[in-house]
This record gives sequence, C-alpha cells and structure tokens, in this order.
Amino acid sequence: MNVLIIGSGGREHALAWKLAQSPRADRVFVAPGNAGTDVDGENVDLKPDDFPALIQFARENDVGLTVVGPEGPLAAGLVDAFEEAGLRAFGPRRDAAELEGSKVFCKDLLRRADVPTADYQTFTSPADALKFLKDREDVPIVVKADGLAAGKGVVVCSGREEAIRAVEQIACQRVFGTAGDRLVIEERLDGREASVLAITDGRTIVTLSPAQDHKRAYDGDTGPNTGGMGAYCPAPLVDDEMLHWIEEHILVPTVHAMKRARRPFRGVLYAGLMLTQQGPKVLEYNARFGDPECQPLLMRLKTDLLEVLEAAVEGRLDQLGPLEWDPRPAVSVVMASQGYPGQYATGHPIRGLSDADALPDVKVFHAGTKLHEGRVVTAGGRVLNVTALGGTIAKAKLNAYRAVKCIRWSGAWCRKDISDKALQA
Ligand code: AMP
Ligand code: GLY
Repeated sequence: MNVLIIGSGGREHALAWKLAQSPRADRVFVAPGNAGTDVDGENVDLKPDDFPALIQFARENDVGLTVVGPEGPLAAGLVDAFEEAGLRAFGPRRDAAELEGSKVFCKDLLRRADVPTADYQTFTSPADALKFLKDREDVPIVVKADGLAAGKGVVVCSGREEAIRAVEQIACQRVFGTAGDRLVIEERLDGREASVLAITDGRTIVTLSPAQDHKRAYDGDTGPNTGGMGAYCPAPLVDDEMLHWIEEHILVPTVHAMKRARRPFRGVLYAGLMLTQQGPKVLEYNARFGDPECQPLLMRLKTDLLEVLEAAVEGRLDQLGPLEWDPRPAVSVVMASQGYPGQYATGHPIRGLSDADALPDVKVFHAGTKLHEGRVVTAGGRVLNVTALGGTIAKAKLNAYRAVKCIRWSGAWCRKDISDKALQA
C-alpha cells in the first residue's frame, strides 16, 4: 500500500520513518516534507492546504491511506475532502477537530461530559471579559484565545493586570486575528504537566505510553513558550494506575461525548494534562500527534503503526491486540536555530548528521531542514529532533546528547536538561 503523510516537521519525519518500516507499506510520500523525509520516504512538492492537488496526487499514485500531521489541515477539513473523494484519511473530520480548533467548544464539551478541567467562563465581548476581571478577586488566571494561534493563544497570568493586558491584546487588538473572536478565562491550575495520547476510531481507544514535553525555551523551564524543546517517554509521573484513571475519567468520556454530539472523533486524541493535587485535569486537547512527543513515542513503538492507523480508519480498533513497546525509554532533544522562538536566520549548512545517525539506538528526525545544492541546510526554528533509546531515562538522555554533540551549524543550540523532570518525579 502507498501512504501519503501531510506535513513537514519532526512529527511527520517520525511518521514516515515508522510507516516505511511496515511490511505492508510500499511507497511513503510526504507533502511537502523536509530533507529527512526525502531519505526515509519521498517528498511531494504540494502544500498541505491544496486539497484538490493532494487528492489528485493520491488518486494518481494509488495512495491507500493518507495520514495528517498538523492541526491546520484537519481544522480546514482535509479529512472530509478526502472522504468525499472516496479516499481514506487518518485524522478527525473538521467538526471533530474543533476539539483543538475551538477552546470554547472543548471546554463546553468537557463540562457536559463531567471531565475534570479548570473552572472557566467564555466571552464574546471584550468589555464583558474586562468587567469580569475587574469585579473579581485578583488571583492567578489564564486567558485563552478561542481559535488556533500557533500555540501562542494562551496567556498564563499571575494576576489581574496581566490578564487585562492579555484580553486587550487578544480581543481588542486581535493579535491572533479571528482566533480572538471568543475568549476563555479560566482558573490557573498548579502541578506538573504530562501528555497522554490515544488513538481512537470514535468508539474504542488505544492509549499510548505517557510522554512529557518541554514547552519553555530554556533550561529549568524558563524563557518564552515554544512549540516544544524536547520530549521523553514513558513519563514515570504517570504510573499505570494513574493512566488507567485518565482513560476512565478523561479519555473515554470525551470520546463518548464527541459521539453523542454527532462528531465522532477518529484520529489521535492528545490530552494535555495538569496533574493537580485533586488529580489530573485537562488543560487542552489536540487532535493530532504531539510534536515532539510523537518522536520518542514512535521510537519505542514496536507494533506496525500502519496496522493501527488502518484499524482506526476502518472502525475496528476493538479487534487490535495490545500495542507492543520497546521497554527502553526514549528521549528526543530539539536542536534549534539561534533566535528561536523569535526571529532566526535559515540556510545554514548542517554538518555531522551521518555521524550522529550512525550511533547505536539513535535516530535524527528532521524538522526545519531542506536540501539546497545537495546539502542539508536549516529551514526553520526547530531544526532537528535528536532521538535516542537507552536502558534507563538517564542512559537515553546520554545517548541523545552524545548524538547532539556530533551535529554543528552556525547558531545551533538546545536545552541541556531534557528528561531531567523524569528524574525528579
Ligand atoms: P495550550 O496552548 O492550551 O497547550 O496551553 C499552553 C500551556 O499553557 C500549557 O501547556 C500550560 O503550561 C499552560 N496552561 C494552559 N491552561 C492552564 C491552566 N488552566 N492553568 C495553568 N497553566 C495552564
Ligand atoms: N508538543 C506540543 C504540541 O504538539 O502541541
């Protein structure tokens, strides 16, 4: 079977690498891909929002399954368009992808389904939001733009003044455009964060090994928020008992509520959780694999991913056996461009990639790279996801950073403490 992956980041490279290992996969295409996906698969020069061209490509190249990486094409209805064209695509339809695309929809669904989450109010008028803040006690609070804002639409505030500024930016100045048409203002939760992802066909869920991201730019969780500077899996913070509780009280009720809302959720249900003193609570849902969580997850998955994704698309996950995992933990370190998450330059040649990849139990996933005159050059803020397995988390970390040391370009940097949170757990 030929497979088409939509996207161009480290998550999509990991998907291409893993799906290409399936005995049932023939050609693995990635649209548009990066320098790494062209090695483990074949790049196709099409944009993720050009549905007619993608559909035509899938038809002409006998693509049996299309796998959507990022949230943008899901929210824009790529899966609906493919299904209407009689093609199979893994990911939620547009109405189900709203679980990520609209925080108001997500919070209202969680409340109806009695899933633990922060107390909240929603607002369509900035004046009402400002009045609410002014009438209230001055306590830590979180202001969220309703729509997709490239991971930047959430402002965690220590008090009222900050919250008022956030409302002014999101709802008055519209720094995220129409994503700020509505607002969620919610209680600020305390605790440690973890990501629990599940693959679902709308009825049955297959929970993946828990993972932990590192969203802040610098060591010790300081500095600005980023798309994620590294991840590891499994996260010992979430033991089997807690994982079971999360399935029963969070994931399953969510999937059922989506079904009742006539928006069956097929795809990856990614719960961003805060582990509070009162138990795990949902911070947000994503409708796709996490990036970079996907990279260490797939490094450990032994089961044929193509089988799992096909079973999800065909609604027969209940017939799939349990997933098989490499018992060894995996750690993935993001190497970034100088200046990220702010302004950065691109086009720097990257050296040492093959030395890093040649190390045992190491795989270098490409994120922001491209080929230029036969050389791999930087093409984004998050450039590489250096991923390694090891007998313990500490050994996986050591292996990953040993590989990082092989790789050089002008201005390359990374966090030095990816996975240390596991050791504190
Ligand atoms: P999101 O873009 O929804 O993933 O949120 C980004 C980050 O904001 C999360 O990973 C949390 O660190 C933080 N966050 C979101 N909601 C809350 C909350 N209610 N309390 C504390 N932190 C939050
Ligand atoms: N790693 C965070 C995300 O994928 O949204």
